[in-house]
Formats: sequence, C-alpha cells, structure tokens
Amino acid sequence: MIINGEDRQSVWYDASGDDVFIIDQTCLPHEFRILSLVDLESACVAIKSMQVRGAPLIGVTAAYGIYLALRKNPDSLDVACHSLAATRPTAVNLQWALKRCQDQLKPVPPDQRAEVALEVAQIMEREDVAICEAIGEHGADLMEQLWQQKCHSQDRLNILTHCNAGALATVDWGTALSVVYKTLQRDVPVHVWVNETRPRNQGAALTCWELGQASVPHTLIVDNAGGHLMQQGQVDVCVVGSDRTALNGDVCNKIGTYLKALAAYDNAIPFYVALPLSSIDFTLEAGLNQISIEERGGTEVTEVSGLMPDGLPGQVRTAPIGVSTLNPGFDVTPARLVSALVTERGVVRASKESISALQD
Ligand code: MRU
Repeated sequence: MIINGEDRQSVWYDASGDDVFIIDQTCLPHEFRILSLVDLESACVAIKSMQVRGAPLIGVTAAYGIYLALRKNPDSLDVACHSLAATRPTAVNLQWALKRCQDQLKPVPPDQRAEVALEVAQIMEREDVAICEAIGEHGADLMEQLWQQKCHSQDRLNILTHCNAGALATVDWGTALSVVYKTLQRDVPVHVWVNETRPRNQGAALTCWELGQASVPHTLIVDNAGGHLMQQGQVDVCVVGSDRTALNGDVCNKIGTYLKALAAYDNAIPFYVALPLSSIDFTLEAGLNQISIEERGGTEVTEVSGLMPDGLPGQVRTAPIGVSTLNPGFDVTPARLVSALVTERGVVRASKESISALQD
C-alpha cells in the first residue's frame, strides 16, 4: 500500500538491523506511527492490544513473534506458541500460523530454530501478499460482471464493506479491499460505503484512512444506515472479510456483519466474503455456536475514542456511569446468506462440498 507516497506493508522485516516493524494501528487515523517488535512479549502485546489486527496480519505477526522468541531463547518454541495463541481467540489464522511454525520447527535442532523461524515468517509474509492479490483479481471478475449489468443505468458501482479487511488487516492489499483495488485497476468506477464498525470503529478509523491514501472514492456511514441504503437501491454489492469460516460456509467476522448479510438477502443484493484459505477452519463442521467469540471490555461500549478539542487522543463517555454492558467482537453469518466465497483459488459456493474441495 502507498502511504504518503511510500510503498509500505503492515508488517515487515528489515535485515539491516534484524528488526521486525509494524504500523501501530491504534494510532490511526490521527498519527502514522511505526513500531519495532523486539521480543515475544512485544509481539503478544501488539496482537492483544490491536496494534496489529485483522485475521491474516495476526497470523503473520505471530510467526514473527516465534522468531523473536527463538532469537532470544532457542528452547522457547512451546512457550512462545502458548503465549501467542492466548492473545486473541477468534481469528483461526493465528492457530493456523502457529501450527505451521511448530510443524516446521519441531524437527529442527534448537540452535538452528531461530534462523528457520525467520525464513518461515518471511515466506508467510510473501505468500500473504500474493494470496491477497489473487483474491482481489477473482473478486474483480465478479465486480466487472456486475458493472456490465449496471453501467447503463448508473455512474458508479456501490460496494458496501464492514470493519477493515484491507491492506491494514493483511500484509498488503487486503481481502475485501483487494477486490476494490483490483476492480478500480480495471477502470470500473467504484464507490465504497464504509460502515463505521462500532465499537472500535475500524471502518471509520482504518478503512477510511486506507481508502483515502489510495484515493478510492468512499463515504463513511453509521452502522445502522446500511439497510436503509440497500432498500434505496444505493448498494450494488457487499464485500467483507472473515476471521473464521466453517466447512459448511458459515462465516465469522466482525460484529455487525450478520445484520448486513440479512439486509442484503432481503434486498437481493449479492453478499461476498473475501478470504484466504488460512481463514477456513477445516476442522469445524458449522460456525453457529461453535466459535469462540472474543468478548471485549465494556469501556469500548460506553466510550468513544477520538481526537479531543486540544488535538490529543482521548475518550468520551456516552453512557451513564455504572451501566451494564456486553461487547461481543464477532458474529456468525450463516452460509445461506453468503452469495459466494472469494478465495485465492477462485470463487466458490459457501457449502461443505465446495469448501472441502479446497483442502489440500
Ligand atoms: O477485531 P479485528 O479488527 O481484528 O477484526 C477484523 C475483522 O473482523 C476483519 O474483517 C477480518 O479479520 C478479515 S481481515 C482480512
């Protein structure tokens, strides 16, 4: 992604200083800050505090976390995997990445493990970029077809997205937003409706910032506006990401995704989920009531973060003191509401038959 004229990734390794760097996403959109991850603990903090977030990026950062742990202590593979696995529960990419690291590192003698761990993390980093680009191209095929049907009666293709499934949620390109970027490259006049995505506002803070950096036309809407826009014919298609997709095609993604899928279904609007195969939990038959849904703190519900009148970041309380809260971070959209899954291997139905066929 191009940020202020420079080509950047959300995580990268710099061999000159043996450094792992991330973009601190808790500071966006107000400040662009780069952080160095120095050890296992800082990698765990980065994932848990959401300095890095988004399923694919969590996976790659965890792989670098393993490298940082082994660089310090070659015998710490199991401890490192355990600590990283405990950071966030829902995105399956974390477990996927840790299993891949363990499978590749266990046979390696401890004194060589750090070197191999770095190679594994770098391979995963490069693969993620290629996978996201492929997802974008497959999704752009769908968007182009849709545009062919719509271009005679309207001047833009309106895509609605939820949360941030962009370059910031992956190493680069994103999943849902890769579809947007690749569609624009084909000269389709795309416009994106961005759900703010309470409580943490990843849509407002991250997706709007990222689309702005890429000069993609977009409009921020409150989470409750999507259904109305769909009824008004102002949404042509929904494209979202996924944190964990079950074998039957149920999709677990940021809280609020389900309600958008219901509204899309009611208005006969295609609802696509863009995801890498690493976001599919092939061990899970169905998603409903089977996925550990992250429960987050109540202050995310009772307060809103932003810039204060003095220009410094701060929190504003919107609810009465002492109010009781509940803050589930994700929900499950049943497969019947999903038009198709857009993967690096192509567009497939959200069904057990199609998803099983993707497994190596
Ligand atoms: O809590 P977050 O910000 O990590 O949630 C991110 C999402 O829900 C994304 O939609 C999902 O990880 C897909 S990212 C390509």
